[in-house]
Amino acid sequence: MSAAYLAAIAVRRSNYAITRKSSVPDAKLEAILKACVLHCPTSFNTQSSRAVLVVGDANTKLWNIISESALKGLEGDHKTSTQAKLTAFGGGYGSVMFFEDQAVIDAIAAKIPAYTKQFPVWSQNATGMLQHAVWTSFTLEGLGATLQHNGAYSDELVSDIQKTFSLPSTWTSTAIMPFGDPAAPPAEKSFSPIEDRVKVVKA
Ligand SMILES: Cc1cc2nc3c(=O)[nH]c(=O)nc-3n(C[C@H](O)[C@H](O)[C@H](O)COP(=O)(O)O)c2cc1C
Repeated sequence: MSAAYLAAIAVRRSNYAITRKSSVPDAKLEAILKACVLHCPTSFNTQSSRAVLVVGDANTKLWNIISESALKGLEGDHKTSTQAKLTAFGGGYGSVMFFEDQAVIDAIAAKIPAYTKQFPVWSQNATGMLQHAVWTSFTLEGLGATLQHNGAYSDELVSDIQKTFSLPSTWTSTAIMPFGDPAAPPAEKSFSPIEDRVKVVKA
């Protein structure tokens, strides 16, 4: 029963070679995001996770804002390579921005003070599950995608993103996933021995 799911998670990869096109219509992308947000679990069923789809010129605008912030203080080769990477993300078809609504996290933490310290951790766990579900679904649709964290670094940048895209100030950025039709397959991936990473204990 699990074979189809396991095959699906095995094809998900980081693919940086993306184009300005998407063979998947926007309505389908939106339906995928809605299904993933609806069915991915959250601690205490708080449903704190949020996802925003930006495509076309809005995607370019997003990565221009990120570049302005991320390139500050960088010099030389580091600046050139970072700039090239960010320009390529803005040149993709679109991005999914992932957020966690802090208003929801704060409300549950106030309701159950015994777990106040855990709720932010569980919130990060929840957004990771959502990111994986979207990443895998997009890959199954034939898209190339990566997971980026430039948008999660500075409060000022997150505030700029919230204002530009009219998002609530309680939505904190957790990751951004640029995507598009792939221009090339993903790079080779190496694996550490699985025997060292999974144990079965029977007694
Ligand atoms: C929590 C997390 C954070 C990541 N952050 C970034 C990132 O900021 N930029 C990036 O290019 N890749 C990022 N990645 C992608 C990993 O580098 C990538 O998944 C890993 O090398 C395995 O390759 P694969 O995605 O092709 O399986 C992140 C992955 C995870 C799970």
